[in-house]
Amino acid sequence: MKTLIPVGVLFSQTGATAVIEKTQLHATTLAIHAANLQLAAHGLEIQPFYMDPQSDPFLFSSMSEQLITEHAVNVIFGCYTSISRKSVVPVIEKYNKLLFYPTLYEGFEFSPNVIYTGACPNQNIIILAEFMFSMFGKNVYLIGSDYVYPYESNRIMKDMVNGFGGQIMGEHYLSLDAAHAAFRPLFADIAACKPDFIFSTVVGASTSALYETYAQAGFQPHTLPIASLTTSEAELAIMNPAARADHYTAAPFFASLLKNSTLPDWQHLADLTKEVPVNQCWESAYFQVMLFAKALIEADNVNTDSLLKVLRGMEIDAPQGRIRIDPDNNHCWVYSRIGRSCANGDFEIVKESKRTVRPDPYLMSYAISAL
Ligand code: ACM
Repeated sequence: MKTLIPVGVLFSQTGATAVIEKTQLHATTLAIHAANLQLAAHGLEIQPFYMDPQSDPFLFSSMSEQLITEHAVNVIFGCYTSISRKSVVPVIEKYNKLLFYPTLYEGFEFSPNVIYTGACPNQNIIILAEFMFSMFGKNVYLIGSDYVYPYESNRIMKDMVNGFGGQIMGEHYLSLDAAHAAFRPLFADIAACKPDFIFSTVVGASTSALYETYAQAGFQPHTLPIASLTTSEAELAIMNPAARADHYTAAPFFASLLKNSTLPDWQHLADLTKEVPVNQCWESAYFQVMLFAKALIEADNVNTDSLLKVLRGMEIDAPQGRIRIDPDNNHCWVYSRIGRSCANGDFEIVKESKRTVRPDPYLMSYAISAL
């Protein structure tokens, strides 16, 4: 006789960010299957309830409440955009439940009811900015989607540029569903002001419009590359292959790690994951379910306070390497890596930390001690 543990799974299958959230949904489903094989020996089984919030923050909020009140879930795996997370967190806190959030984000947040498994700024934007400044220069053009994550990330990038004596050459925000026509005027401006690189905080399907318009305008990545934290293998996969090579992304994980893995534990995933492009958000969505399963066994119940007690400080082998939940801030110690995009849709890793980097979500220190 098994005890069923209901959980909510809240990733968009439609709308502006479905291209990346579908990969998180895929990883969550795969990981629940793997976790249930382990949990069976303990008489437990995770029972997922899936909802499609359609990339709409209001649906994220109402569906998270529905999952808690109608399906009695104590734990939700979900959210890509920071606006969706900020819509779910008040609901999670009201009912004292737990959200596992598998996405890089802008930091400057702590909820005791959230486990943050993506990178925060000291683990991605600092390494990327320093790398780009040293390779290409310090004059930067900012292009983002119009919501909280791009504004907050650009605030950090502006601090970095100012601190290193560079200049912000332009700053523009476009709607989440912006298409090619919306990006064209920006490239006329970029041709005129000649920045050293573009920092993109564009997310979702719009990303392909940015890179394709850039290529159509005749720019060359070796003189004016695009640097980003949100252009992963999933976004490269929907671009014209001619537009996607030789740009830069910082992330804890790239799919090339899995494909080239010598770790026997993860090799089977490379075969299982032909359906979606594996990327940093896929990876954190995968390992956070494994963290939950381990916590469930150790805590022996699904109560939020009991789970948090064992989750804080917990370590696990993830596809990126061994990661750990910081006991003070609920964020993860993850690797810092920089990838250069390839025409085949992968990233070649050009720089990486020797070990995981401590999460510093409030950027108390900009130093990269682990590199
Ligand atoms: C994001 O909105 N956290 C990418």
